Amino acid sequence: MVKQKGMLINIYNNLVTPLLKKDAGIDAEYLTNLSLSLLAFTSKNRNRPLISRIIKDLNQEFCVFDKRLHQKICGIDFSNPVGLAAGFDKNGDAANIWKDFGFGFAEIGTVTKFSQSGNPKPRLFRLAKEEAALNRMGFNNNGAENLVKNLLKQGVEFQQSRQNICLGINFGKSKITNLSKATEDYLTSLKLLIPYCDYAAINVSSPNTEGLRKLQDPILLKELLREVKNLDNCPPLFVKIAPDLNYKDIEDICQLIIDENIDGIIATNTSLDRLGLEQRKIKQTGLLLAEENGGLSGRPLQLKANQIIRHIHNIDNNIKLIGVGGIDSPESAWERICSGASLIQIYTGWIYKGPQLVPNILNGIIKQINTHKLSNIGEAIGSNLKWIE
Ligand SMILES: Cc1cc2nc3c(=O)[nH]c(=O)nc-3n(C[C@H](O)[C@H](O)[C@H](O)COP(=O)(O)O)c2cc1C
Repeated sequence: MVKQKGMLINIYNNLVTPLLKKDAGIDAEYLTNLSLSLLAFTSKNRNRPLISRIIKDLNQEFCVFDKRLHQKICGIDFSNPVGLAAGFDKNGDAANIWKDFGFGFAEIGTVTKFSQSGNPKPRLFRLAKEEAALNRMGFNNNGAENLVKNLLKQGVEFQQSRQNICLGINFGKSKITNLSKATEDYLTSLKLLIPYCDYAAINVSSPNTEGLRKLQDPILLKELLREVKNLDNCPPLFVKIAPDLNYKDIEDICQLIIDENIDGIIATNTSLDRLGLEQRKIKQTGLLLAEENGGLSGRPLQLKANQIIRHIHNIDNNIKLIGVGGIDSPESAWERICSGASLIQIYTGWIYKGPQLVPNILNGIIKQINTHKLSNIGEAIGSNLKWIE
């Protein structure tokens, strides 16, 4: 095989990007599942000769190594600050491949105690012009027990013995579990998966599971977090919050995070607010965004998600923050870090911009570190330093 630098980027740009330029055409969920199947096959067969050559090429194209990007956060080594956000690899099918796309970490899930099929299709829609998406997937996943099996199949070992793969696991509540029994649901999944995750994300912010966001109420959240913290070998804990909370709600959650000694916050999940796109029509259903159920992600979320990171950082800069929502360029990644995020995650932007987004962001950050004469990324966090061309 002739090795050609940028081959995978070319394939993505020529085959996938044109499909993403239109709302209609190939169904968004079908396209996601197709690419995930390819990645899962590669992840499971990474030691076969041909596949291992492909993985080597991936590494050359997408991985950026620079010790100034390294951080130790909550005792975890992150080789770089860019992670894959939850929801793309819900069953950990490709858990072992994300580092080869240059990610410093990946968040698997959301996983629930019970396997569940999620909401009726279609449930994921492209908003191509705005580089956004609307989804109401509803935690479709194969359940916590299956996730353990899946990770083992790919040789993802207990977290103490593996190298170079930093995995967070995102936990949610099963649809059939009553809200009053939510804690038990989370605990069952966590007990099974604690040995495999570097950190656990407690998801109380998906808009697509009825009542889930009520768990953001400080009284309910306190009860849930206390039980989780009491688990044997509990990993660092991050609470994932919605962008639709008001500042008072956010302040209450921050106080709780401080009082209960929780490690950090992931801000934010998708939005129920239509963020100026209320009158935008979804081609497949003929309904306006204002009339559709589901959470909005991608570029329209960028401003709000960044403001929330800044607000939390101003409340207490000891709360570790993972910034997510609308990051789609080196500039928006830098802004999120300078607003207070120690780590960032991407999902919708990664789809629209393609896998080159990860090295583009990392090279952009390195350039800014040089321009601002910083010694490492840690000095940029919450610094409000501007992007300089
Ligand atoms: C199709 C889809 C599915 C998602 N599923 C989950 C999920 O299961 N759990 C979760 O915590 N967030 C989920 N998210 C939210 C993302 O993790 C992220 O918080 C949000 O999309 C904002 O980031 P983005 O603008 O970079 O996409 C999902 C997002 C999308 C687009």
